[in-house]
Amino acid sequence: MTGPVVRLAAVADIHYSKTSQGVMLPLFAQIAEAADVLMLCGDLTDYGLTEEARQLAKDLAPVKIPMVGVLGNHDFEAGQEQDIARVLTDVGVHMLDGDTWEYRGVGFAGVRGFCGGFGRGALGPWGEKIIKDFVHEAVQESLKLESALARLGEQHRIVLLHYSPIRATVEGEPPEIFPFLGSSRLEDPISRFDVTAVFHGHAHKGAPEGKTQTGIPVYNVSYAVLKAQYPDQPPYRLFEVHPETQEEHPSVTPIAEHAGRRATDRPAGAAKKQQSS
Ligand SMILES: [Fe+2]
Ligand SMILES: [Fe+2]
Repeated sequence: MTGPVVRLAAVADIHYSKTSQGVMLPLFAQIAEAADVLMLCGDLTDYGLTEEARQLAKDLAPVKIPMVGVLGNHDFEAGQEQDIARVLTDVGVHMLDGDTWEYRGVGFAGVRGFCGGFGRGALGPWGEKIIKDFVHEAVQESLKLESALARLGEQHRIVLLHYSPIRATVEGEPPEIFPFLGSSRLEDPISRFDVTAVFHGHAHKGAPEGKTQTGIPVYNVSYAVLKAQYPDQPPYRLFEVHPETQEEHPSVTPIAEHAGRRATDRPAGAAKKQQSS
């Protein structure tokens, strides 16, 4: 099924804790009114605990629009990432790990991604085995993304990541940690498949927008970034995709001005750990 417009809302790094239940309910309700799809770009829990995911699941359960997401590094902290994904899947979130999902003519591909740095500063697979293993993880995530994009066919392709595929959207973080915020190995499949737009999180102090070398828009939708950059707007990003159009990119419209009211119940505390992405 295709329609005239598909409105996508994106947010990342909500870092739900054991006591977060209810914190994001007002925001999720607002998103469900303004958008057709909710995208969650990782670090959905704070310490990677299934119990934290259950708190989030309770707040997502009333959301009646489709949801799609990827996990972040925090969701792996306790080795409970599979349970976290299952708990979120049970309330209707399409969790992507090299998978695809399609909605009204828009294709979504998602992976967590990994770190290793950008451009000429990217870590190479040379020397000690542990360095090769580290680089291998980023390569594997890139290959998973490539494989997913290859399955989507000719349509608007939206990519969800946790880590950044470009340097521009981590600008603002201390330069010393840039290599831990993403990997330009993720940019290769994005460019090759002429993706419509990319959404990621992880860089809590990064920049909200950037572009790949081929001009594909990349948006850092980290909750903390959105709060800092757009203090007068609710902390999610809203986009419109027109599935019937075939032109290159003009159908995605970053909407700077949210039409709805400002969130009146601020989810304070949801993004407390800004120093830990
Ligand atoms: Fe993260
Ligand atoms: Fe985070």
